[in-house]
Amino acid sequence: MTDLLESRHDAGVVRLTLNRPTVRNALNTDLLGALASALDRAAQDETVRCVVVHGADSHFAAGADIDELAERSASDGPGDPRLGHWQRIQRFPKPLIAAVEGYCLGGGCELALCADLLVVANDAQLGQPEIRLGLIPGAGGLQRLAITLGKARTMHLVLTGERISGGQAYDWGLASQCCGHGEALDTALATAERLAEGPPLAQRLAKQAVLAVTETSQQAAFELGRRSFELLLSTDDKAEGIAAFRDKRPPSFSGK
Ligand code: HXC
Repeated sequence: MTDLLESRHDAGVVRLTLNRPTVRNALNTDLLGALASALDRAAQDETVRCVVVHGADSHFAAGADIDELAERSASDGPGDPRLGHWQRIQRFPKPLIAAVEGYCLGGGCELALCADLLVVANDAQLGQPEIRLGLIPGAGGLQRLAITLGKARTMHLVLTGERISGGQAYDWGLASQCCGHGEALDTALATAERLAEGPPLAQRLAKQAVLAVTETSQQAAFELGRRSFELLLSTDDKAEGIAAFRDKRPPSFSGK
């Protein structure tokens, strides 16, 4: 089965479905690469005006694929293909909407936070649980949370790994629209249809201008976060965190 489903919702709107339901749509390298390639195609295609990304089977995505993460080490470094996939996703120039139901965790939450508009079901569950695996968010999620939420709430989320509901994410300013259970995709597609009627050039420059205020000046912080994530990949605590997840037991961290 294909890990990414791609369809035209209407003339100007592409719908991308993360489709690994047996592992809660966990983002492995192939799925990330397929997503980056689909966004590259959408960027090149003048008829595409807006993209909606969502997850199959009532969940957005439960993060990076932990089986792959177990094999990763600090020495993978800049040659790691995932880095390029994330960069291509983050540089998509047209409006990108994430429609979030169910679990939206770790790298899945980071992907949703890359989107320009985030539509959440009120009972969705968002969070950055990487700390429980001895890691930190590695794809810009920590920085995007800090930019929007400020220090206190971001510290709480990334140090505890606790989740918040979609309703809370909306109240805290992370999401642009909040809807009932099961309504996120339709709500996002309706917004996408409206955007598809807008002026593409002005939309592209508006996106650039907002990101210039909220992200461009923070590039050093994004880079520090990425390097810290890579460093943690080779620690005993990461190995213990992943072993504990697989054994379905609490981890016992050593600080090494
Ligand atoms: C691989 C995963 C997975 C993941 C779930 N599964 N999340 N596999 N990678 N991220 C698998 C489980 O092992 C299980 O497989 C199946 O999906 C269903 O999961 P359950 O735990 O049985 O379901 P449930 O009780 O509903 O709990 C769902 C869940 C939980 C809350 C999402 O699975 C969970 O906590 N997952 C891990 C979330 C996480 O830590 N994400 C951050 C990853 S690190 P079996 O074979 O048992 O059926 C990260 C770093 C990003 O994202 C870095 C970016 C650069």
